[in-house]
Amino acid sequence: MQIEEIARLMVLKGKGILAADESTGTMEKRLKSVNVPCTEKNRLSFREALFSAPSMKSNISGVILFEETLKQTSSKGLTIPELIKKNGSIPGIKVDKGAKQLAGSQNEKITEGLDGLRERMAEYYKLGARFAKWRAVYSISSSQPSEQCIKSNAHALARYAAIVQEAQMVPIVEPELLMDGSHSIDKCYDVTSRIISECYKELKIHKINLKGTVLKPNMILPGMNCKQKSSTEEIAKKTIKCLKNNVPSEVPGVAFLSGGQSEIEATKNLNEINKINDTTFNFTFSYGRALQQSALKTWAKSMSETTKIQKVFDHRAKMNGLSTKAEWSENLEKQVA
Ligand code: 13P
Repeated sequence: MQIEEIARLMVLKGKGILAADESTGTMEKRLKSVNVPCTEKNRLSFREALFSAPSMKSNISGVILFEETLKQTSSKGLTIPELIKKNGSIPGIKVDKGAKQLAGSQNEKITEGLDGLRERMAEYYKLGARFAKWRAVYSISSSQPSEQCIKSNAHALARYAAIVQEAQMVPIVEPELLMDGSHSIDKCYDVTSRIISECYKELKIHKINLKGTVLKPNMILPGMNCKQKSSTEEIAKKTIKCLKNNVPSEVPGVAFLSGGQSEIEATKNLNEINKINDTTFNFTFSYGRALQQSALKTWAKSMSETTKIQKVFDHRAKMNGLSTKAEWSENLEKQVA
C-alpha cells in the first residue's frame, strides 16, 4: 500500500489510533498504579487482550507499538503485528528513543533516536509495521519553550519523517505541548501555533510528502493548574483555529493525543471539534491513557477475564469512534457495555 493510502486509512471517520507504545519505564508507572508487577508477560497479556477486542475492527484504525511488543508473539501463535492485521487494524511503531536533556538549555528536552534509524526502519517494515511515531515534547514556563527547543525538535521531526517515508511508511509527527502548569488557554494557543508552524517549515525543507503524514498534536487547553476553566466549545474553536492557521491543507488528518485529559474529557472535546469542523482535515484520536485507563483497572482486578476487560475497552473505543463523527453524547456514554 502507498503511504498516502495508509495515512488516509489511519484517520478514517469512525476510527482512531490506539497508542499502546508506552516504553518499559512508562509501563512500569502505569502497572504500579494498579499494583501489578511490570513483567514482560504482564505487559503482553494486557496488550494482547486489547488487540484481540471486537472494537479493533470497528473503531481502531492503527496501533502504535513499542519495539518489544512488535517482536512478541501472542498466546495463539501469531506475532503481535499479525494479530493486529488479522483484527482489521494497521500496526505502527514508536521509533524515537525518548526525550533527553537539551544541552545548552535548562529543563528542556530534545527527542533522540536518529542514529541508525534508517536500518531500524527496514527491520520494522519486515516485521509488519506500516507507520511510525516520533514525539517531541515542550513545556511552558516564563521563558520557555525556547527558540532553541522549538527549532531543534522541529528539525529532528523532519529528519525522522524523511527517513520513515524513504522506508515507505507513514510518519506520525507528534509535537506535544504539555498540559503541566497554570498557563491560560490563549498561551497554549500561541505556543502550539509557534511549535506547529516551525514543524511544517522544517518538513517542507526536508521535502516531506504531507499527504503521507499524520499530525498528532495536543488540543488547545488551559494548563492543568489554570484557575480559569474553558468550555468545551472554546477548546474546540481554538483548537480548530490553531490547526487551520498552521497546518497545510495537504495533511489528510489530525489524530490528537489525550495528554492527561480524563477519558470523558478527551472524548467530549473531540466530539465538539468534529461538530464544528469547517476544515478539510479529518479529526480523530491517537490516545494512550484516555483509551486504556479503565481497561487497565479492570485487567488488574480480573486478569484472566479477557471478555470483561475487552468490554470496557470496546466501550471507550466505540465512544471515541462516535466522537470522530460528532455522534457522541453523555447519554450514550452512560449505556456502558
Ligand atoms: P496520551 O494519549 O496518554 O497522551 O498518549 C498518547 C501518546 O502516544 C503520547 O506520545
